[in-house]
Amino acid sequence: MINIKLVGEDGESDWTRMTGTETTLTLTCGNPLGELLCVQLQKQRNVFENPWFVEKVEVTSPEEKVFKFPIYHWIKRTKEYSFCEGKALRSWEQHNSDKYKYTRQQELDRRKDKYCWKVYKEGLPQCIDADDVYALPSEVRFSFTKTKDFFLNATLEMLKDKMMEMYNWIWGIDSWESFEAVEKALAKSITSDVSVYVKQNWREDAFFGYQCLNGVNPMMIKRCDCLPEKFPVTDDLVTLEGTKALSEELKNGNLFLCDYKDLDGVQTGLINNKQQYLAAPLVLLHRTPEDELKPVAIQLKQKPGKDNPIFVSTDQSDWLLAKTFVRSADFHDHKLNVHLLRTHLLAEVFGVALLRNIPRVHPLYKLLIPHTRYTFAINTLARKQLISEDGVLTKYAAAGGEGMRTILERALSSLTYRSLCLPEDIKDRGVESVPKYYYRDDGLRLWDIIHRFVSGILTNYYKSDSDVQKDSELQNFIKNVFENGFLSRKESGIPQSFSAVDELVKFVTMVIFTSSAQHSAVNNGQLDIGKWMPNFPPTLQRAPPTVKGRANENVFLQTLPDVNATVNILAILWLLSKQSTDFVYDFYFYHVPLGRYPEELFCEEVPRDLIKKFQEELKELGAAIGKRNANLDLPYTYLDPQLMENSVGI
Ligand code: FE2
Repeated sequence: MINIKLVGEDGESDWTRMTGTETTLTLTCGNPLGELLCVQLQKQRNVFENPWFVEKVEVTSPEEKVFKFPIYHWIKRTKEYSFCEGKALRSWEQHNSDKYKYTRQQELDRRKDKYCWKVYKEGLPQCIDADDVYALPSEVRFSFTKTKDFFLNATLEMLKDKMMEMYNWIWGIDSWESFEAVEKALAKSITSDVSVYVKQNWREDAFFGYQCLNGVNPMMIKRCDCLPEKFPVTDDLVTLEGTKALSEELKNGNLFLCDYKDLDGVQTGLINNKQQYLAAPLVLLHRTPEDELKPVAIQLKQKPGKDNPIFVSTDQSDWLLAKTFVRSADFHDHKLNVHLLRTHLLAEVFGVALLRNIPRVHPLYKLLIPHTRYTFAINTLARKQLISEDGVLTKYAAAGGEGMRTILERALSSLTYRSLCLPEDIKDRGVESVPKYYYRDDGLRLWDIIHRFVSGILTNYYKSDSDVQKDSELQNFIKNVFENGFLSRKESGIPQSFSAVDELVKFVTMVIFTSSAQHSAVNNGQLDIGKWMPNFPPTLQRAPPTVKGRANENVFLQTLPDVNATVNILAILWLLSKQSTDFVYDFYFYHVPLGRYPEELFCEEVPRDLIKKFQEELKELGAAIGKRNANLDLPYTYLDPQLMENSVGI
């Protein structure tokens, strides 16, 4: 049984009882209430009754005026809950009058008790203070937390069973005895069409180059205008297709560099009591006259020297081994920097800062809260099961706990705001005109669409820069992001305050892009790229070669990770790439695609029209991507808006 009361500018109704089964109710008041300000709800005391999830309340006044109250909240206790009318209000717009039965400050004070910052590790962004998902407030848990938690454990168990099955075929060995054994074992596990393509093409130089542009780590590659001193490649060493000299191709903008310098000297761990290895390579890539991107030189350590040869494509077996060391380095940069830090951990920072500083009536809350859904839950699960002391990644990646922490710290200390904003990142890396860079092409179009949407919404509420400057809640939000997320690193370029509307629009665009598009680009292809383990090995068991001419198939197989490391990491890649089983449109408990807002938090016409336009533009982009993909051997789908979630939810 529920009690309901309406509060208006000129008075309030009596409490009226609802049975909970009716959808409409006539509420009679002695006097006119004026403009409605809030609705109050109270559950009657009944210990056996379940909590009640309220979606929304709509009130039609005797004058036929409709007032909408978006609620989407569990009513659990017998206390009085107050919910404001749906019009978005900036920080200075609502007087804390008694009539409201609600103040923004009370709401924020309550939230600050519920959503606390925690130092997870010094030198890393702060996170939400919850040791496991059950400690999270109910509204930010997975819809079916128990199922999800169980699912994660069950998947790992299932994969371990599969591993045992593999052991039955190749009983008694820890490392792989042949490529056929790898193939046979992995064929038994989960399938992915793209992974079949990867298995067929992983040795090809053109596919290596393709992955620098459109794999799960499309952000490492930069144009090379002059060769770094530490990477002394010469014309004697490399032959460029089209027989051009290095100096000429440098000038033509046809040479590119991947430099994994953040991995230099990172401590590696033991797996199955064996030392593991991680390189910090430099890779020079060439844009060929056929518009392919191919690696032409690889140096596996940062410091040049006799024991650090520069491998080239004519080095036969050495070349494949050198490329594999790069792919394993890429695994680490991807998992820790590009995926974990730059999407998961940052999305969590934005979410905690939002909940601590922005009340429900604020336009920024209405705009951003759908883009934080389930992020706390998945990150809390990841901290407990993937990167904890006995987490799967800690146990089976080359850089165990300490090494992983070093990589994350270095990544945060060099992270810039510009690199989070795709148009600037593309410019800074000098990759504006690289052909077949679908991540860039789709990403820039998506950035523009999101920017137009965010600009439409925010300029509807902020007509001038001074409006932004005087919104204390907005200012507290960005201050929190700067201090708790970016640890007050001024050189990151992250704003410390908002002084202009444009600045606010850009920042919010980045938040939505990071939580949806960027996460999809680096998350959704993990199984595609990594299922054929030799293409993306989580660890390697031999030191990077110091001389040429010693590699052969046997050495290669002994260098690959052991069977158990392979299978455990594969389980994780599968789990993290899998579209949520509850990925459906338009239902507020579930994962939804970008631009769908089943919780109708905006009640005014302007933002609602902008949402529709946003959805149409996303659909058009999806269609254009589909058309382009129809002509590709390997379709690039990771930035199709129809296939990405609104938030970092897996
Ligand atoms: Fe993810």
